[in-house]
Amino acid sequence: MARTASHYVCLNCGTSHSKWAGQCEQCGEWNTLSEESASDNTPKGLGKTKGRKVPLVGLAGETRETPRRVSGIGEFDRVCGGGLVAGSALLVGGDPGIGKSTLLLQVAGLLAGDVTCVYVSGEESADQVRMRATRLGLDQAPVQLATATSVRDIVTSFEGGEAPGIVIIDSIQTMYVDTLDSAPGTVTQVRTSAQELIRLAKKRGFCVILVGHVTKDGAIAGPRVLEHMVDTVLYFEGERGHQFRILRAIKNRFGPTDEIGVFEMTDVGLIGVENPSALFLAQRRGDVSGAAVFAGIEGSRPVLVEIQALVAPSALGTPRRAVVGWDQGRLAMVLAVLEARCGVLLAGQDVYLNVAGGLRISEPAADLAVAAALISAATGKPAQGDAVVFGEIGLSGEVRAVSQSDARLKEAAKLGFSAAIAPAPAPARGKARSSAAKPAGITLRSIRDMGELVVMFGTTDHAAVLDLKAKRQ
Ligand code: TYD
Ligand code: MG
Repeated sequence: MARTASHYVCLNCGTSHSKWAGQCEQCGEWNTLSEESASDNTPKGLGKTKGRKVPLVGLAGETRETPRRVSGIGEFDRVCGGGLVAGSALLVGGDPGIGKSTLLLQVAGLLAGDVTCVYVSGEESADQVRMRATRLGLDQAPVQLATATSVRDIVTSFEGGEAPGIVIIDSIQTMYVDTLDSAPGTVTQVRTSAQELIRLAKKRGFCVILVGHVTKDGAIAGPRVLEHMVDTVLYFEGERGHQFRILRAIKNRFGPTDEIGVFEMTDVGLIGVENPSALFLAQRRGDVSGAAVFAGIEGSRPVLVEIQALVAPSALGTPRRAVVGWDQGRLAMVLAVLEARCGVLLAGQDVYLNVAGGLRISEPAADLAVAAALISAATGKPAQGDAVVFGEIGLSGEVRAVSQSDARLKEAAKLGFSAAIAPAPAPARGKARSSAAKPAGITLRSIRDMGELVVMFGTTDHAAVLDLKAKRQ
């Protein structure tokens, strides 16, 4: 008799390995490989039965506009691409305790008047969910509540009768399919449960929202194994200690990605923040060194945020480079350009960089603002307080134009800034030719080279930087 082979699946990225190892070769996470018996997902082959022929159609043809369910929570609707689409599957991922259940209960409560909303809780008892609803002021909302973990029970409940409009599964890690041997939360269970629920949603035409926990230690299967199965992936980010939460669209078959929604966690639930720039800049002190305001674009919206840097003499052989909210590799690049092209030496110094407010920035346009914050920290001279900074830095020290300068400048003008340090806008191409004039009240100090930025701080080389520092002390 053939021995039942088993294989090892990474709980973080879902890669299958034939041998156990401490670290997943694919994603580099430690202690995430879990044994799965091969019988769970051995391919069975097609056999002899013939299928039916698939009809082929052209690209031109009638398409139906997909109706959207708008919850009224503006930030959530925008991140979804304008509301929830019937028959679609949505994954909401995030650390435990970040506010996924709270947000989805609020969405369900607001939509329940228009469509049937079902909230299936596999983690909390009905009483706990009721208590939360009372706290959110939604105790009278006609949400249908269920506590279940068996996918078979859920499928049976919604197979017949009138189809619901929205079904929320909180969370997918607690669901199980009873034909599989593995425990709930393993990759096989999570994947199969999601498959069954998504198939049901497509068949009955309701929108299914799956909640998935992401844990750093990989104790439960990460929702990343589900990303390709669903239509939309939203991640809830934020520091637990901060009251701000950011909902980010990672993938969206029905709308733009890169869109973010900003929320504030209050004692009556999550409240959308319509003007995040004002919020991120609320505690800014204009006259300190080591800070610069970056005019960024998040999805369709400009967002101003303060970038802070601190440079301190290091006692370590390898000085520390600590970054919160930005890319470590990108910081190394900006430091290298400052050193090699502008003579600003930070080699013996610890460098700390922080994006205030808990936002994560991935745009290269932040390079120039980071450089400004670093030079300001190194020289001890505050950056120009009434100016925003943006621009991408190239390896030869050139500053490159970035997209949507107009939108960035407009947002800066709206928030009372009177100048911008940025590269000259790129000449418009093709249809995107912009006719918008520069917003009134903003002076653009266009720079082409990093050297010009260093000169703005009244210094041209490393010796001068150190000299300035010495004078200040
Ligand atoms: P929760 O939605 O349970 O997180 P998740 O489902 O992602 O695990 O959020 C729980 C946290 O939110 C908890 O620490 C308490 C806090 N909270 C508030 O601050 N205000 C509220 O109105 C609610 C309902 C929760
Ligand atoms: Mg929860």
